Amino acid sequence: MRFTVAIDGPAAAGKGTISRAVAAHFRFAHLDTGLLYRAVGAKVAEGADPVAAAEGLDLSDLARGDLRSAEAGQAASRVAALPEVRAALVAFQRSFARREGGAVLDGRDIGTVICPEAEVKLFVTASDAERARRRWLELAARGGAQSEAEILADLRERDRRDREREAAPLRPAPDALLLDTTELTIDAAVNKAIEAIELRQAQGRE
Ligand code: DC
Repeated sequence: MRFTVAIDGPAAAGKGTISRAVAAHFRFAHLDTGLLYRAVGAKVAEGADPVAAAEGLDLSDLARGDLRSAEAGQAASRVAALPEVRAALVAFQRSFARREGGAVLDGRDIGTVICPEAEVKLFVTASDAERARRRWLELAARGGAQSEAEILADLRERDRRDREREAAPLRPAPDALLLDTTELTIDAAVNKAIEAIELRQAQGRE
């Protein structure tokens, strides 16, 4: 059985949480594609050439402990604007998407570029203030010292770069279901995603 769930949206809107929960619920494999760009960005920060870093990316690179910081997010967003970097990462993401047993991928261009044929596409958003509040809670729990205002500015800068770039800009696929999580609990947001997938699975059986 091949079944792809594409989950896109701006930073800290809830994509990761929803993706992990949905993957666990349906026993699908999950790929956080932001980690690919974060790992390339981290190598570039250490002096590597961006395209060589993307072409030589190894799964072990995704396990580095320093990929979740705001700096790693900015470095990722910068290398993600380079078409050659994106091109080097396409084949891995596409084969992951069509693997046997079902797959959930979250990122910025999964429903538009990586997997336009995905069975379910979600575009997850939340207000800027709510996204900053959530990211602040997450980073503070890990000892981060950034203020909510700094985090908000960081998210906005990254989103603007991700939206305005020429190569695979952040935008919803025309047939994506929009999911605004600003007023939703995690459970409510996950349930909406599960319902959309069950509906599509039922259509597939008709
Ligand atoms: O999802 P994230 O915040 O970990 O992503 C980090 C950066 O990587 C994001 O600002 C833009 C880039 N990215 C991308 O361009 N395409 C993807 N599919 C995933 C992430």
